[in-house]
Amino acid sequence: MEKRKGDFNYRLWRYDGKPGELIPLLQSAQDHFGYIPLRAIKHISSITKIPESTIYGVITFYSQFRLSPMGKNVIKLCCGTACHVSGATMLSDTLQDELGIEVGGTTEDGLFSIFTVACLGCCSLAPVMMINDETYGKLTPASIRKTIRKIRREATKLQVNQQAEKTEQLEV
Ligand code: FES
Repeated sequence: MEKRKGDFNYRLWRYDGKPGELIPLLQSAQDHFGYIPLRAIKHISSITKIPESTIYGVITFYSQFRLSPMGKNVIKLCCGTACHVSGATMLSDTLQDELGIEVGGTTEDGLFSIFTVACLGCCSLAPVMMINDETYGKLTPASIRKTIRKIRREATKLQVNQQAEKTEQLEV
């Protein structure tokens, strides 16, 4: 039952127009879809009678909400004090340059998203980033580019192999 209380459809069904109900509703939509798609905004609007423009305004006001899906590799670059004094700003510029997106964005191929965080709890490794569950410490612009390119190469290789498997299956 506890799980159900956070469920998007359950929340929508329970909505009774009390102030402050929109944020939890949007959070549950994001938990459900991984982001808040346009169709969810339309659906919420049709049930709650809150105009789509108001819902959109709330989503864009709070940084916790996303209007696009997360990349397959979520990069969390630490900008806490220890990392900041160790060059996190330059590393952030490197990441944005290498991926061609801004912090908070996702690459067109859906492979990477970049976020900044306050502290990853391993300051002795500063500057630090995490990609999904893996931690990368003592970063330099060169090591960041190398890591990103390695992940890209592996993703491309995987895609080529999958494509070859599909072709093989079709030929059998
Ligand atoms: S400040 Fe970056 S890990 Fe703590």
